[in-house]
Amino acid sequence: MGLDLKENVIAIDGWAGSGKGSLTKALAKTFKIPAIDSGAIYRFITYYFDAQNQIENDGFLQKLQALNLKYRIDNVLHQVCFYYNNENIENYIRTPKISEHVSYFSALKSVRNYTTQFLRTIQNFTPLVMDGRDIGTCVYPKAVIKFFIVADIKMRTERRLKQLLAKGITCEYEDIYHNLLQRDKIDSHRDFCPLTKAHDAYQIDNTNITESEFIEHAKNYIIKQNATHFFIK
Ligand code: DC
Repeated sequence: MGLDLKENVIAIDGWAGSGKGSLTKALAKTFKIPAIDSGAIYRFITYYFDAQNQIENDGFLQKLQALNLKYRIDNVLHQVCFYYNNENIENYIRTPKISEHVSYFSALKSVRNYTTQFLRTIQNFTPLVMDGRDIGTCVYPKAVIKFFIVADIKMRTERRLKQLLAKGITCEYEDIYHNLLQRDKIDSHRDFCPLTKAHDAYQIDNTNITESEFIEHAKNYIIKQNATHFFIK
């Protein structure tokens, strides 16, 4: 396949809490392209239906299709922000309760179709860097660059614990540990677009390296692939 058929996307997939988000933000800053956290959409859908105590049953699909989610590209912060009723969804989606329920909703075919279509519209406007579980396999299978990020579960738990405590969210090591393990299991065993390494993705294990070494490693890979021109606007 010629490079000209590729999508101007850096796709970053991997296990929960493996540092995909930090890498996404760092690459967005380097290339001055928007970062997109696709998990935010799954988290918002979970928040929305949880609040109504609704699982997938009659009326679910109509409500999902009517969900009027909007996005704005912030060219200063180099990120895409999502809004519902003019409010940034970030205010609602990072609680332990959402983390506990999100794998149920994100395994539903209707939810995956909705989210994938929504995410694909964004690339019509700009090169971008997006992280998730199926970006290189399902959302942007022709992405120019694909990463698959892994790290030891204990390391991922410690990092996530620090992030949540820094945000003032009360949580316990054991709960996070089990949540990450359980999400990886459900996310990688679901029927539709499961978490898996794309055959052409470059895997990085960041267990024993610092965050800056991790980011340098990823940048060097992009340079070695002669792909930087895809992302410079
Ligand atoms: O990246 P995150 O941990 O915030 O994502 C939350 C959940 O959303 C994750 O457990 C699985 C789901 N998800 C998904 O199924 N596909 C994506 N592309 C991104 C997230």
